Formats: sequence, C-alpha cells, structure tokens
Amino acid sequence: MEVKLREIAPSRVRTALLAVPVTDKGLGDGLARRLDRQLKGRLAALVKRSGFVARRGSSLLAATHGAIPAEHVLLVGLGKHEEEGLHAWRMAGAVTAKEGGRVWADEAIFMLPPDQQTESVVGAVAEGALLNAYRFTRYRSNDKQKARLRTLILGRTASGRNAALTRALRNARLSASAVCLARDLVNEPPSTATASYLSEQATAHCRGEGLKVEVWDKKKIERMKLAGLLAVNQGSREEPRFIHMRYKPKGRPQRKVALVGKGITFDSGGLSLKPARSMETMKIDMAGAAAVIGVMSVLPELAPDVEVLGLVPTTDNLPDGGAQKPGDVIRYLNGKTVEVMNTDAEGRLILADALLLAAREKPDCMINLATLTGACIVALGNEVAGLFSNDDELAGKLIQCSRDAGESLWQLPLTPEYREDIKSQVADIKNVGGGSAGAITAALFLQEFVGETPWAHLDIAGPAFTAKGHVVCPKGGTGFGVRTLLNLLSGSQPE
Ligand code: BES
Ligand code: MN
Ligand code: ZN
Repeated sequence: MEVKLREIAPSRVRTALLAVPVTDKGLGDGLARRLDRQLKGRLAALVKRSGFVARRGSSLLAATHGAIPAEHVLLVGLGKHEEEGLHAWRMAGAVTAKEGGRVWADEAIFMLPPDQQTESVVGAVAEGALLNAYRFTRYRSNDKQKARLRTLILGRTASGRNAALTRALRNARLSASAVCLARDLVNEPPSTATASYLSEQATAHCRGEGLKVEVWDKKKIERMKLAGLLAVNQGSREEPRFIHMRYKPKGRPQRKVALVGKGITFDSGGLSLKPARSMETMKIDMAGAAAVIGVMSVLPELAPDVEVLGLVPTTDNLPDGGAQKPGDVIRYLNGKTVEVMNTDAEGRLILADALLLAAREKPDCMINLATLTGACIVALGNEVAGLFSNDDELAGKLIQCSRDAGESLWQLPLTPEYREDIKSQVADIKNVGGGSAGAITAALFLQEFVGETPWAHLDIAGPAFTAKGHVVCPKGGTGFGVRTLLNLLSGSQPE
C-alpha cells in the first residue's frame, strides 16, 4: 500500500471512500458536521439509528448516493476527546485501510482535522494503515483476490510544514517495514527459518550506511565460549549462529544501546519435551530476534544519533541423542555455573551468553526481548508484555515509548527474595525456579548476567503472536517490540 499526503477539499473530492475521524463528542462542529449538512442530515440520522459510538477502532460507513462526489463517508472513532493518544490515530488509519478494502476501494482519503496536521498524527495514521495491510501469503496457493486498498491519501486542508510531515510519513513507512520484516521472520515455517536462515535474512536486510552484520558460525561460537548457546544446540542437527550487528551514526553518537533478541527458531522443549499442543506455535520463539533484526534493518535510513549493538543468539531446541540433559552443568564466560534442571528453560541459557557480551561493551543501556515464559502469559495475557528492569529511568522511558507505539508493557518486580528459588545444590544457580512466579525467576536468572549495566528485559511470550488477529495485525506474528524500540532510539517522547 502507498500512503501520500495531499491537499484535499473534502466536499468536492471524487473518491471511493472519504474517512473522517470523530471523537465521542459525536459529529462535533467540524468536517463531519459539514458533510452531514451536505448529506441533508442523513449522517446524523444513521449515527442515531445504528447507535454508533466513536470508540477507538470503531467505524460507521455511509453511502452518499451522489450528494457529494465521494461515494462513501466513513466515520472513524477515536475514543474519548480528552484522551485520544497516538494509538487512537494509528487504529484509525488501520480501520480506514480495512474498511476501504471492504467497499472495494482502490483509493481512500483520510481527512486530517485542521488542528491535527502534526508529524505524530500523520505518522501514526500512515503506520496504522500500513500495518493493517500486512499479509503473509507466501504459502497460500489459491488466496482469493481479497479486496485491498492500494492507496491511502492523508488529506490536509492547510499548507505549510510540508517537509516535516513528509519526513513523518517516511518514518512511518520505515517503522512499518521493520515491523513487517519481523512478522515475516516469525511467520516463516520453522524448518525453513533456521539459525542460518535468520542469519542470511539479517545479512540481506541489514545494509546501508553505518550498519555492519557479522555472522558467527559454530567454530567462532566455540572460540568465543558461548556455552549456553552450544549447550542448547547440542540436541539439534542445525548449526547454531550468533548474529552480531552494529549501527554507528555519522559523527559522535549521543549514547550506545545494546539490543538482544532470543532466537530459538523452534522450541520443542528439548529432552524436557513439550506436549504437542504447546509446540504448535513454537516457531514464534525467535520473535525477540525478529524484532531486533527488524529494528536494525531501518537504522541506516532512520539515522538516529545512537550507536546500536544488536545481538542474536540463535538455534532450535530439539532432543536428539546429543541433547543436553537435565542435571548437566554449563560454565559461562564470566565463570558462573548453571545447572540445567529443565531443558525447556532454554531461552535464558542462550540470552545469558549474549547479555555477557553486550555488558562487556559498556553500553548506556541494554534491552533484551524474549518469548521467555508461559508464566508471563498467565500473568498478563496476550496483549501485554512483561517489563523487568534494574533501572527505573530506563523502565519509565520504555513505558512512555511503548504507549506511543500502541504496545502495552507492564512492569513486574525483580523480587530479591525469589533469588532463593534459583539456587542450585550443584552449581551457582539453576535454570528454573520453584514453580510459582516463573516470569520473575526467569528475569532474575537473566539479571545474573547483566552486572551493573542499566538493563531491561521484555518478556514478549504473550504479545509476540496473535491467534485472533486485530486491526493493526492479522493472525500470526505481530512484530511486537519493534515500534517501542524505534521510539526509544529516535528519542521521540510523548508530546
Ligand atoms: N518459549 C517458551 C515460552 C513460551 C511459552 C513462549 C508459550 C510463547 C508461548 C520457553 O522456552 C519455555 O518453554 N518456558 C518454560 C519455562 C519453564 C520450563 C521454567 C515455560 O514457560 O513453561
Ligand atoms: Mn522452552
Ligand atoms: Zn523457548
């Protein structure tokens, strides 16, 4: 889909679908009201008859029957007038794209209210439309010619501030392409999307000024003593990889951020085998890696003033004859030993290697993303990721950035008392806790490997995948985390 900006006279423009945002104040006294007058009150009557409430994500379609040149008017709900927020605009863009498809429109116009022709609103509406349009169709041989909107025009009434809005539009395209790359990587079947596939994809997509990708093979991983990654990989026929990406801006960077993504390309549990039902979606266990690769892929064009290190340890977790066994002990780079009690708690084992390497670089902060625990889904469900951090300022920033991104984070504690639960009789620590607070004990395990570096862990096990689908994302991988991280890196704070 293409998104453009154009000056539009709404009552005179010829188009299949004219979308007009409205708040819970009803038709208000702006464009929606003027159109209603031209439609001889039919819009107001329809609102009344249908009981339409302008909630976030709701919409009401009205045929114009020639009263104006536009064929349909679409009222798009923003929610409460006082608390629209950026995500309401993102959802409005997505709803417009969806409804445009439903009326077989090739092109739709979304009218920006005169007081909302800002960079952040333009960016959010465009991003929402692009995210709605995403499909994973590579393996669909007879996908019906689904109705798809081809062009969305963001209609402006005023002129001026053109360069800034054009830049916002471009950033939205970049952000959407990063999210969609992450979705593609997650949706790809697990026997294709192996560690070497992920590495090839990272190499192919992460190019451009200032960005370098290095892929470490098994030999190099052995030389670097990445003990956790090697232990998990023991049960597999596929070789592991460690993807090392670095973005350096022109001139002196303001800060340095390390991103680490869990790249388990399929999680069978290993010898601590999962039941069949729990394995069905375990191709998504590299969603953290996918998010990091997605983010890195757009940095040359986004050009933030930040040095970004992207690290992805990747392998599948399978139970062949060489597989690691419950009771085995791993010795890490920093000398710490871990007793593996459950081979299904493999994510933390490979993240430990990467966090150790990242911390050595002394970044200003490091953030890891991982589909780490079923326990986090029990706690927060599929819409909200768990946030753990040893640094309140970083946690606060992430929450702000996630709000703007329309990605929910909820902070959970790194309760020191639960540290007892990961003590081992044989080694320094073990890789599972006592049974309860599984999301917290997993985070406490990771904390053992971050030292004093300001660090945040996002447990994205729930929101990495949507079984139901929603207006900004069809069923499947969601690309969760990409938009939050991009907001953090581009330093965009809420207005
Ligand atoms: N990849 C899973 C976590 C997961 C579960 C992600 C469901 C997405 C959906 C992780 O490796 C895992 O198996 N965790 C175990 C940990 C346990 C053995 C301590 C879990 O959550 O059951
Ligand atoms: Mn597992
Ligand atoms: Zn896993």
